[in-house]
Amino acid sequence: MLTSKNEFCSHTKNVLISEAEIQQAVRSCAEDISKEYEGKPLLIVGILKGSFVFLSDLIKRITIPCELAFMAASSYYDGTTSSGEVRISLDISRDISEYHVVIVEDIIDTGRTLSEISRILKGRDPLSLKVVTLLDKPERREVRFDADRALFTIPDRFVVGYGLDYSECYRNLPYIAEYCE
Ligand code: IMP
Ligand code: MG
Repeated sequence: MLTSKNEFCSHTKNVLISEAEIQQAVRSCAEDISKEYEGKPLLIVGILKGSFVFLSDLIKRITIPCELAFMAASSYYDGTTSSGEVRISLDISRDISEYHVVIVEDIIDTGRTLSEISRILKGRDPLSLKVVTLLDKPERREVRFDADRALFTIPDRFVVGYGLDYSECYRNLPYIAEYCE
């Protein structure tokens, strides 16, 4: 018997970015990171939960030593609209001043989450700070923020899969799909 949550998680989804397209872009991003940070102390900071699938594929393809840390922030509480407020619910305790830091995020939407996280991490004086995001939705920006690298730019649609959720569902899809009510 289906629970109501399972029924709710069976809405139509149109594939926007295929698994193969994602994997190709991830490989090329990992190659560039491996070249750029060769011989440098590299700390990758994944923003939970959304980035975890992207991050996992990305680091497996990075060929230089790197360390990992996680932060968690939320600006979405339920459904598809942002509350506007960013809460940091998990922070890194380590000293980042000896590292080149690369923040890895799933998507930039209003820009609020990453501008807040970047502001916090910059204040801790890393050797350098860059932001890599799987997806960018520039039409939705409310605060000015540009990633150093966005693997895909998408239109103003609510998307799920490859780590991204709708009310905690669909993170396990291996592709990016548009969520349709
Ligand atoms: P921002 O602070 O508005 O840029 O929001 C970033 C966060 O909102 C992301 O890390 C996601 O968790 C969530 N988000 C924004 N757009 C989408 C979407 O289309 N699908 C799923 N989550 C989204
Ligand atoms: Mg997120």
